[in-house]
Amino acid sequence: MKTIFSGIQPSGSVTLGNYIGALKQFVDLQNEYNCYFCIVDQHAITVAQDRLNLRKNIKSLAALYLAVGLDPEKVTLFIQSEVPAHAQAGWMLQCVAYIGELERMTQFKDKSQGKEAVSAGLLTYPPLMAADILLYNTDLVPVGEDQKQHLELTRDLAERFNKKYNDIFTIPEVRIPKVGARIMSLAEPTKKMSKSDANQKAFITLLDEPKQIEKKIKSAVTDSDGIVKYDKENKPGVSNLLSIYSILNNESIEQIEARYEGKGYGDFKNDVAEVVVNTLTPIQERYKQLMESDELDRILDQGAEKANAVANKMVRKMENAMGLGRKRK
Ligand code: TYM
Repeated sequence: MKTIFSGIQPSGSVTLGNYIGALKQFVDLQNEYNCYFCIVDQHAITVAQDRLNLRKNIKSLAALYLAVGLDPEKVTLFIQSEVPAHAQAGWMLQCVAYIGELERMTQFKDKSQGKEAVSAGLLTYPPLMAADILLYNTDLVPVGEDQKQHLELTRDLAERFNKKYNDIFTIPEVRIPKVGARIMSLAEPTKKMSKSDANQKAFITLLDEPKQIEKKIKSAVTDSDGIVKYDKENKPGVSNLLSIYSILNNESIEQIEARYEGKGYGDFKNDVAEVVVNTLTPIQERYKQLMESDELDRILDQGAEKANAVANKMVRKMENAMGLGRKRK
């Protein structure tokens, strides 16, 4: 069975973009692959986090992973900082990566732009991400489009390590969904929907109340021609809503376009909101139950144990390949 690895940062609310670009894919893939899903808290601290909020977000993200439909009997769900091999392998891969290639990462450029104090961790974020992936002999990494560049770097680092030291890493492939790889901001549809957007109307979180969702979708920026048609270039707002509708309702964009022919945006937006609410309501119910139970701790303990066993083996291989410490099996 092939192996999948993916991670999400516990750095704020989980958005509809995270759901469509990542979580929903994970649920679809869990039956066919050996899956590792990670709460990447060490990545989250590359920018300042409030200690109590971080703890809260870690637990909440764990509950959401399960609430969307991941089965802990099938997948390994764990917290990155509870598997020290990630930091160990991350360090070794930092020593394989070049500063120049890290400075060229668009996420680093975006997050450091205009800031006076930028943590070194923000620059060395991608080798830690490469470590996450490479520790598990990962074949496939399902992510949204914004992570594509990090995946290319992961492949480069793996190939460089294999060539320079020893051929130990599987070279992972990226898996980006055909529709919904980049859900856009509702307020500025030429920008990615992001949990760190200062404008609350720009994104929908998985825990938003139905009323909030309706409001946000009604106020989503569209255009003035009143035609429900997919045209990313000229109608980014309508195209974004069409993508959301299409994925969540499991219908083709053409089918939806045909249904709204001759109708304005009012009906269309009401229906998009309904589809989003119908998707999120059962997730929110399961989420509440999970947050109140002690099931989460048990699942995360079990996940950390499984992940540690696999990841420690790879760290040992890396150390042997590089000549660190004494030779051990
Ligand atoms: P993060 O936490 O920013 O996002 C988690 C996942 O959600 C996807 N995503 C989106 N997809 C579609 N439209 C959007 N607007 C949107 N916003 C986010 C992301 O592409 C991602 O798949 N560096 C990663 C976390 C990470 C990771 C890894 C991922 C750490 N180690 C190893 C895969 C493998 C990140 O910051 O994701």
